[in-house]
Amino acid sequence: MPTDPQERLIRPARNVYGSLRLPGDKSISHRYGMLAAFAEGTSRFTNFSTGADCASTLSCMKAIGATINSISDGAVEITGVSGRVTPSNQPLDCGNSGSSMRMISGLLAPQMGRFTLIGDASLSRRPMDRIRKPLEAMGASLTLTDGHAPLTIHGNPLQPICYTTPVPSAQVKTCVLLAGLQTTGTTTVREAVRTRDHSELALRAFGATLTRTLDSVSISGPQSLHAISAAVPGDISSAAFFLCAAAIFPGSGLVLDSLGLNPTRATLLDVLTALGARIAVLNLEEKNAELVGTVQISAPPEGLGSTEVSGALAAQLIDELPVLAAIAPYTSGGIRIRDARELRVKESDRIALVVKNLCAMGAEVAEFEDGLDVPGGQTLHGAAIDSGGDHRIAMAFSVAALRAQGETLIQGAESAAISFPEFFDLLDLVAER
Ligand code: S3P
Repeated sequence: MPTDPQERLIRPARNVYGSLRLPGDKSISHRYGMLAAFAEGTSRFTNFSTGADCASTLSCMKAIGATINSISDGAVEITGVSGRVTPSNQPLDCGNSGSSMRMISGLLAPQMGRFTLIGDASLSRRPMDRIRKPLEAMGASLTLTDGHAPLTIHGNPLQPICYTTPVPSAQVKTCVLLAGLQTTGTTTVREAVRTRDHSELALRAFGATLTRTLDSVSISGPQSLHAISAAVPGDISSAAFFLCAAAIFPGSGLVLDSLGLNPTRATLLDVLTALGARIAVLNLEEKNAELVGTVQISAPPEGLGSTEVSGALAAQLIDELPVLAAIAPYTSGGIRIRDARELRVKESDRIALVVKNLCAMGAEVAEFEDGLDVPGGQTLHGAAIDSGGDHRIAMAFSVAALRAQGETLIQGAESAAISFPEFFDLLDLVAER
């Protein structure tokens, strides 16, 4: 057994079986946290994300004047600042969370005052020019450190903009929309690939008016927001680890309840279906415009086939690609991933780390600048996994470890708590040994 609390030993499993209800979606929780903090009145949430990233957002919101009352078990009450934030003397610490830094910048750029946003070593390496460009085009004053955090905003009134995102990014889209919400006139964001639309749905739920076309969203400001009560749907990107685990064990059966199934997030279900997994979606409901339902999955007796993820699919599946790549050796025909260059600027260089760890487990894999090819029909061997402090890498290789020969040591396993602190306990619950 590892004695280092940052390591986790994963033993092979015989099967994956059971039913789970997962903590709230990270993307939705960030947005509900920010909008509630900005709105008038007290919002109440249940099943709020338990991850450290959303805690970073809440602590930033507290620092700019919102009242946050975290009750228990994902229940959170937030009393907002009615559109007028308090400048903070202390830097706003976004921790590991790119979503917090990029989206909060849009919220703060039109406010009066000076705000400095900082993050951990990983976040301080991630590109922030992607928000500087549109915000400066709106008239904002932003100082970056060599294109990265720490970043300082000298808030001032902004002008509306019509902006086409150069890379698909829901964080950049949200940053511009949150600035546009507070700007007189109509701000439009155009995107070639429709990215997750939680901001659009959440803004409407908080009372804002937006208009959408196939490839754009517009918001006319200024508008005020009003508190809501909402249950956050289970996180489908966290579910991805369990869906992929179930997909690689013929004889598996897993039910995931109250799961967020927003069509801009549920592409993994189509990809697993294309690979041969048997998936049923039941009890579909709409809650605050977000689709929620129950997903049942079992593996095909003959095993998974093969697939390619490229183009718009790669952008929509970006957070699920590490786990898909990690289970690819267990398919019969392999998985080819392209157009996923963005993986290189996530919490780690996820292409490099997936390749490194697949190789450590004895797999053959080919690396490309924008993706990788993982042949199928391979046996993996237990190994020491370098998570690089990246939550999705730690969890992806814990899933691959379930069907490996021998035990796997996940180094930096504590990083799972960035999005999913309950991950290892839930994995133990459904992995039959
Ligand atoms: C997110 C958007 C995606 C995703 C991230 C969460 C969001 O990032 O990878 O985990 O909540 O908007 P990009 O906007 O950089 O693509």
